This record gives sequence, C-alpha cells and structure tokens, in this order.
Amino acid sequence: MQAACREVRRGGKRLGLVPTMGALHAGHLSLVRAARASCDVVAATIFVNPLQFGPNEDLAKYPRTWEKDVAALEAEKVDLLFAPSPEEMYPSGATTYVIVEGLSEKLDGRSRPGHFRGVTTVVAKLFEIVRPEVAFFGQKDAAQVAVIRKMVDDLNMDIRIQVCPIVREHDGLAMSSRNAYLDPEQRKQALVLHRALMRIQFEVDLGESLSARLLETGKGVIAEVPEVRIDYLEIVDPDTLDPVSDVSKGALVAVAAYLGTTRLIDNIVVGRASSVIIEAIR
Ligand code: PAJ
Repeated sequence: MQAACREVRRGGKRLGLVPTMGALHAGHLSLVRAARASCDVVAATIFVNPLQFGPNEDLAKYPRTWEKDVAALEAEKVDLLFAPSPEEMYPSGATTYVIVEGLSEKLDGRSRPGHFRGVTTVVAKLFEIVRPEVAFFGQKDAAQVAVIRKMVDDLNMDIRIQVCPIVREHDGLAMSSRNAYLDPEQRKQALVLHRALMRIQFEVDLGESLSARLLETGKGVIAEVPEVRIDYLEIVDPDTLDPVSDVSKGALVAVAAYLGTTRLIDNIVVGRASSVIIEAIR
C-alpha cells in the first residue's frame, strides 16, 4: 500500500483517503463520492481496529461484510483498497500510541475509555502509510472529527481533513453499521434520538439559546421512550468539546444512547457554526 501510494504521489496525482471499519452503508459511500469528486486517486481502508474497542464492547460481533463492501467500493470506482489484518497493523512488540490528551476524555471518550487512543493511533498509522493530500471523515462521529483535527494540528501533519454531512435513513435515523444490531422494535425506538435533536433545532429556531433549557427539552423527548438509556446529551463547542451555556455563537448538540446493548450516536450543529461547517464541506 505504501509503495502504491508513493507511486501515485510521484505522478503528481491528488490522493484522497477514506478510512472505514467496513460494513459499508450509504454514509461511508458518501465519503467515497466526496473523495472521488475532488481527488485523482481514491484510497479506502477497511480495518476493524481492535485498539478502539473496550474489553466489553462489540469487537467480536462487529458486522463484517467483506464481499459486499468490495463490490460497493468497486462500483464507486475506488482505486486502492487497504484491508490489513490486526497482526499486520499491530505486530507483536509495537508499543507506540498516539494520544490526544483532554479531548479524548470527552463525549464518547468519557464513556469509552481508550477509544480515541485507538482511533488516533490507527488513523495516524493509516495517514503515514497512505500520506494522502485529503482525508474524509463523517460528521456522524463529531467527537472523532475534533480529536483527529487536533492530532493533525498538534503533529503538523500535512493532511487536509474534509468533513461530510450525516447521511440518514428515510425516517431520519443516522446510518450506522451498528443499526444492524437493532430488532424491529428497537429500530423504531431509536428514532427518538433524531426526534430529540430535531426538537432542539426547532427550539433554537424559535429563539431559545440557553443550553440548559434545550437539554431539558431534549431529555424530555428521549424520556418518552423508556427503553432508550441516555449515555450523554450535551451541547458543546465543536472544537474543544467543552460544554457551552449558550448556543448563539454556534454549538454541537451531541447524543449517545443505549438500546439494550447497542450504543447509538447522533448530532446536529446549531447556531452560527452550522454555516461554517457547511462552508468547510464545499
Ligand atoms: P466507521 O464507523 O466505519 O466510519 C468510517 C467513516 O464513515 C467515519 O468517518 C464516519 O464518521 C463515517 N460515517 C459513518 N456513518 C456515517 C453517516 N451516517 N453519515 C456520514 N458519515 C458516516 O469511524 C470509524 O469507522 C473508525 O473510527 C475509523 C476512523 C475508520 C478508525 O478506525
């Protein structure tokens, strides 16, 4: 992979990278399309990264749909696919990790200790192997975006991070490989996350800007479905992930919740920052 990517760069071609864990859906493919639209050569990776899963998480049962994934990437005209084995990525004796302190303990990092250390370590390795000009990530994982941007900044990595909007099912549920774990009843219940975010958006549009009030409203909506257990519902600065008390300068409203053992996340950007993010995508 390293040699193939070196060859691409030598040819003066613009190389784009889309890192994934496979079980590809339309959300992943939107990143591939964005890459295809702005790069000469598109590289994708499929690697279910053991380092970002906690000991009691779903590493063993994480969906693996290799043949379907390859067919989808071929249909989207991906040029290079890298799908290493865990042993290839982490040969025994490897002891170097990339840790973004502070940010990695917020939102998902708080409830999934070690998760972002796994993400930044594998993403740094993929960046080093591919050395893309641009790498594509989804707004779906908003905290991951903040952590990766900080890593790129702090380590002077010469890579542009492009963030693509959340792709949703027809009824609003954010697409996720983990949606496959939901039974039909849970699939309906899961919609409450989107409903809560839409309700918060509605209140902001009506002029409410106090985070405390907005969070109360959002929690009230989620409480209507007792099967859904909130992990967090927070209104934060999209870069620092620190809570903000007022959304008028723009804020990230992020939610994570459990349905049974399945953990789902979703978010929206409200206020001024949303136009900034849309601008960044263009
Ligand atoms: P994975 O969950 O497979 O997601 C790969 C990329 O697809 C991420 O950037 C994610 O934000 C994006 N994505 C997922 N669902 C999306 C949706 N509904 N709309 C838009 N984009 C979506 O995120 C990871 O893998 C891993 O942590 C990884 C970065 C590959 C490192 O292992």
